[in-house]
Amino acid sequence: MENNTSRRSFLKQTAILSTGTLIGSSLLQDAFANTTQPLLEETGSDIFTNSIEEGTFVLPKLPYSTDALEPHIDKATMEIHHGKHHQAYVTNLNKAIGTLDKKLVESSSSLETIFKKMSQFPDSIRNNAGGHYNHTLFWELLSPNGGGLPKGKLAQAITSSFGSFDEFKKQFADASMKRFGSGWAWLVVKDGQLVIGSTANQDNPLMRLKGKGLKGKPVMALDVWEHAYYFKNQNRRADYINSFWNVINWEKAEQLFNS
Ligand SMILES: [Fe+2]
Repeated sequence: MENNTSRRSFLKQTAILSTGTLIGSSLLQDAFANTTQPLLEETGSDIFTNSIEEGTFVLPKLPYSTDALEPHIDKATMEIHHGKHHQAYVTNLNKAIGTLDKKLVESSSSLETIFKKMSQFPDSIRNNAGGHYNHTLFWELLSPNGGGLPKGKLAQAITSSFGSFDEFKKQFADASMKRFGSGWAWLVVKDGQLVIGSTANQDNPLMRLKGKGLKGKPVMALDVWEHAYYFKNQNRRADYINSFWNVINWEKAEQLFNS
């Protein structure tokens, strides 16, 4: 009972404090909302009024239908990727939090605060919290109305940092291709500069880990696990990356850049 109470307290605090954090919007607040809440809908402060859902991470709904990104990303891939893979990270994150030391739970207020002291947590939290966070972000960075060119300050920053949009695409695709095995490619802001890089497995640039891994505020994310493209593209990651440019949600990337 005591463990359940502290867990609920942790999660409730997390939902409150995650509002207006680095990712902006209602992304992580919604990630804690009950299953009737869509991903992008503002949920307000009463998301825990349904006590049966209290203290539980949930799979956020996609902000579009599973076939909305066709023909660039196919319906079957979206159904499995979101409904099976992302769901598994959510399920296993809930299980992993139940095993944590009470003091560690009580000293953590959000996924982002967990990432800031990542080395204190077991791999079960690192993998599943990262998986939940990264995929929630990824769904928002795709759109059936996406593609084309970035706009506004982000477009200016890309040109300034990489010389041209084509050169930026080349470097981002290169980072995506060179990530060995499973992981993510990222565009981040670090020390006021745009930086392209990648992370392994479900790590992300917000995690403070030992070593020289990519650090910064996420602006773009591309899932390069085979589960993201194998059903349609088999082993052809390059084809999947080409498709990504047709569905990238530049409005969301711009929002993240400006946040
Ligand atoms: Fe994935």
